[in-house]
Amino acid sequence: MASSPWRLSVAPMMDWTDRHCRYFHRLLSRHALLYTEMVTTGALIHGDVARHLRFNAEEQPVALQLGGSEPADLAHCAKLGEQWGYEEINLNCGCPSERVQRGAFGRSSWPTASRPWSMW
Ligand SMILES: Cc1cc2nc3c(=O)[nH]c(=O)nc-3n(C[C@H](O)[C@H](O)[C@H](O)COP(=O)(O)O)c2cc1C
Repeated sequence: MASSPWRLSVAPMMDWTDRHCRYFHRLLSRHALLYTEMVTTGALIHGDVARHLRFNAEEQPVALQLGGSEPADLAHCAKLGEQWGYEEINLNCGCPSERVQRGAFGRSSWPTASRPWSMW
């Protein structure tokens, strides 16, 4: 597996790493991979896609973090992320937050460790 080209990343943080925060982070460094907040598949499938996915080109490289438990939904949303120009799609596989666990997505909802890979 190739090693990551990024020496510095700013972790995905719900309610923090929105596009305004990322723009600010980008002013601090041209050499960091920035992450979105976790965006749920439900928010993209049933909500306002542009509101969740738009970002300023100045923010790049940006990774879109997805949260969900249905492989087909995750695959659909990963394609949306690709179409919107994200540098990377990241799956939330292990966030320990209560909100994630209550929402039954992430690692806690998967019956087997292989679940994330079943969508590819
Ligand atoms: C306010 C807050 C929100 C977070 N939101 C997410 C998230 O949306 N997705 C995720 O994978 N991790 C989330 N995390 C976890 C962080 O990305 C990071 O992995 C965690 O803070 C561990 O890093 P540390 O050991 O340096 O604290 C969040 C953490 C904090 C403090």
